[in-house]
Amino acid sequence: MPPASAGRAGTADWYRNFGTVDAPGSSPCYAEWSLGIADDPELIRRIEQWPHKKRQPLLILAAARFLGAEISPFGEFREFLLARWNDVSRIVHSRATQTNEAGRCATLLPSLARIAAAEGRPLALIEVGASAGLALFPDKYAYEYDDGTTVTRLAPDPDAQSAAAGPPVLRCTVEGAVPLPTELPAVVWRAGIDLNPLDINDPDDVGWLEALIWPEQDFRRERLRQAIAIAQQDPPLLVAGDLNERLVALAAKAPSEAALVVFHSAVMAYVGSSGRRAFRAKIGRLAAERGCHWLSNEGHTVIAQADGSVVVPEMDDARLRGRFLLLQDGVPVAIAGPHGQTLEWL
Ligand SMILES: C[S@@+](CC[C@H](N)C(=O)[O-])C[C@H]1O[C@@H](n2cnc3c(N)ncnc32)[C@H](O)[C@@H]1O
Repeated sequence: MPPASAGRAGTADWYRNFGTVDAPGSSPCYAEWSLGIADDPELIRRIEQWPHKKRQPLLILAAARFLGAEISPFGEFREFLLARWNDVSRIVHSRATQTNEAGRCATLLPSLARIAAAEGRPLALIEVGASAGLALFPDKYAYEYDDGTTVTRLAPDPDAQSAAAGPPVLRCTVEGAVPLPTELPAVVWRAGIDLNPLDINDPDDVGWLEALIWPEQDFRRERLRQAIAIAQQDPPLLVAGDLNERLVALAAKAPSEAALVVFHSAVMAYVGSSGRRAFRAKIGRLAAERGCHWLSNEGHTVIAQADGSVVVPEMDDARLRGRFLLLQDGVPVAIAGPHGQTLEWL
């Protein structure tokens, strides 16, 4: 699914923008492939035969990777695409961009720990737009926070880990007075909602999650595999459906003795503005009736504000530069790297 905020720019422009703005810092290969597609009338013609929501660059690139496309010059990639077009088209139509980034737990952890400490009780977590649910295990991963002079390490109790599956170490550069915890918060219940939950025990779904990681980012693929191994020990409850339709019933299942936190990362871009307003209202009611906390980790154009507007007034693009704004209970607390790699406390 393309972000609801993606607009309907021409297909070639969409690929050119992806190849010049989004991809270069993370994947020279995707930058080259995307620019190659933008300048290739035959490929653009084929892509434009798909529904608009299936034309986004990351989807076709991930579909090709899923089918085995290796890092290569655009000419070779083009041959691969044309030779496998029916398969590429099948994957594009049956899959969506559902990247699941466990690394985001590094930017959520300080807020989660702060909530657990303030409440004096363990946490129950609900992630909306959870994909495969890998961000539901912040208590099971290891962390390394680095402010340039000091490295703070946190790790789960080694006795609680299986020897076969060491936790991924989530590394995050911090700036400002980040309230780094001294221990990991206890999580007693975890559940997620997704339009299409991915199954960490289904090799096809796992293959798709790997294909969604950009080609050169081997460290993210390794982290994904480690996070999947952790989640496979005790898979989270994942409910299929729309976040607005499923949230209240799922929240009612959370143990009442735990502090409930509803959170989301990189999801609201896929939800239209009326859906975001409805979600904000639902969260408000849950907070009043259930005392739940809310963490929103999203790009600035899609943040659901109390007044229904979608832009946080004090934040502008120049400050965020593609990063996410982290809000706790509606209040901006930090600027977070989109994959959890940086955390600047406000
Ligand atoms: C980019 S992924 C992010 C996954 C996860 N939050 C993370 O940070 O790794 C966005 C996810 O939101 C889900 N999603 C989008 N709109 C949704 C909706 N209205 N209700 C439930 N899930 C939704 C998609 O299916 C997808 O799995």
